[in-house]
Amino acid sequence: MDSGMRKITWAAQYMPVLRAIAERFAAERPFEGQRIAMALHVEAKTANLVRALAAGGAEVAITGCNPLSTQDDVAAALGEFEGIRCYARHACPVDEYYAAIDRVLDTKPTVTIDDGMDLIHRLHTSRRELLEGVIGGCEETTTGIHRLRAMAAEGKLEFPVIAVNDTPMKRSFDNVHGTGESVLASLMITTNVLMAGKRFVVAGYGYCGRGLARKAKGLGARVIVTEVDPRRALEAHMDGFDVMPMDAAAACGEIFVTTTGDVGVIGERHFLLMRDGAILANAGHFNVEIDLDRLRALAGAAEQRDGIETFTLGDRRIHVLAEGRLVNLATPKGMGHPIEVMDLSFAVQALSAEYIVRHGRDLPGGVYEVPTAIDEAVAREKLASLGIAIDSLTDEQARYLSAWDVGT
Ligand code: NAI
Repeated sequence: MDSGMRKITWAAQYMPVLRAIAERFAAERPFEGQRIAMALHVEAKTANLVRALAAGGAEVAITGCNPLSTQDDVAAALGEFEGIRCYARHACPVDEYYAAIDRVLDTKPTVTIDDGMDLIHRLHTSRRELLEGVIGGCEETTTGIHRLRAMAAEGKLEFPVIAVNDTPMKRSFDNVHGTGESVLASLMITTNVLMAGKRFVVAGYGYCGRGLARKAKGLGARVIVTEVDPRRALEAHMDGFDVMPMDAAAACGEIFVTTTGDVGVIGERHFLLMRDGAILANAGHFNVEIDLDRLRALAGAAEQRDGIETFTLGDRRIHVLAEGRLVNLATPKGMGHPIEVMDLSFAVQALSAEYIVRHGRDLPGGVYEVPTAIDEAVAREKLASLGIAIDSLTDEQARYLSAWDVGT
């Protein structure tokens, strides 16, 4: 077995929910005659989602959603399966990245699965001739959904898209635990520095930020949170973190991770305040949170190490990981989210894609929530795989909880 296939089978053993779905898909073939276009991080967990969809009868074409997150051995292994075409290549230049998106779209998809909305953006701009054939899509991440909602608000989204990110079975596990653990794992393996005792700045206390902050605290880091939303800032304060503006955090932080989905969160005036040896990383979807163009303009050429660029400002060094791209995926040893977390996210993806095939033609263009039945089914399957039983509502309890005229 080659290395890509070994990675795929390693991940598969920790994905019981997706496995159960794939077995049902193989029996029922819900995607017979469908062409699914995907732009996701091409690595072993994603490969198992692709195989589940292909088992259900789909022809699948996939490329990456970030040039640095593709694992070439997994991409090669995927291409060996019948009904699956893979166009991703690690560290490809930007023009090749978008050419690969176009090659995926050349398959005339009926369903799209995006992580960051690249396919849908292309379909609504330079590939509009394909729109008519698309039943609907699914979107994996917060940033993609922000963009989709902006499109929908302007009446420009021409087919229904399920906001997979926004459902509890994705966001409460993937964003919180997945990002929290994998960002720290990637930071530690790339830099080999100690987390205990470090002033660890988390920009943004959303789902990703709060997972990261809690897990960094668990390693003994002294966590500082920066925010722009007063409610989330207060939540961070009451969760026991120091909250301050980035201007103040920049001067005392030792490790910085942005998790905002926003642009220019760490910029020139912050670089000028930072201590020697500051380590900067981004966990938000796009590489826009740290203003690297400004840092390059200020410091000139960087010294390169594996996954780390070191910029020198006078007598201070500032280290940036993975070119400011998703640090949990884009460092040389970044593995992305833990497998069990992606089992849940991709189970929701697989069932949402099935839902789109069944119901998408009846839905006008727009962003839709994951149906609660899908969310609950994934949770139940995961609990069953863990051997965890839970209680059920009695009839009396169900009546009580849905009544308005009992209580006081
Ligand atoms: P969220 O919307 O729950 O949280 C973002 C937080 O950042 C909000 O509380 C917001 O007020 C805050 N924020 C915005 N601008 C800010 C600024 N200038 N300074 C400080 N705080 C600011 O979003 P979520 O789910 O936490 O996702 C964040 C980003 O991470 C998105 O780009 C998302 O696509 C990405 N993501 C990355 C993953 C990974 O594997 N690294 C996994 C899941 C999501």
